[in-house]
Amino acid sequence: MAYAHPVAKLGEIPPGGRKLVTVGKIQLGIFNVGGEFFAYRNICPHAGAPVCVGRISGTTLPSPVYEYAYGHEGCILRCPWHGWEFDLRTGEHLVDPETKLKRIDVKIDGEALEKFPVERAGDTLQVILPTAPPSDGP
Ligand code: FES
Repeated sequence: MAYAHPVAKLGEIPPGGRKLVTVGKIQLGIFNVGGEFFAYRNICPHAGAPVCVGRISGTTLPSPVYEYAYGHEGCILRCPWHGWEFDLRTGEHLVDPETKLKRIDVKIDGEALEKFPVERAGDTLQVILPTAPPSDGP
């Protein structure tokens, strides 16, 4: 049974904004990308950095040699440790699309940048977890 956890009020995270939340012992980043909400676990798949605090920007697009094109503004999350870039709309690493982020059960020590669905319930945003999150207490 899925577990819905309230994480923010509507309007609390404006377009281009983010909010870090802790559900049980799991830290997630909630992102508003052009009015659509995405949630990821705050662990970079490269070396475990708190990726959700990284800079949100665009990126250079594929282009011919000596031509530079910039795009996807506000859709790219750059890891603060080594600069790996992820598309906030898919969770995919930009350089290696084969390194796809899986929507998997929450693992406390998981290595993936996990993506969780965000749903709206009245004026509240909630993250849907596959199971109840582990808690701090007994
Ligand atoms: S830990 Fe994120 S790019 Fe290295």
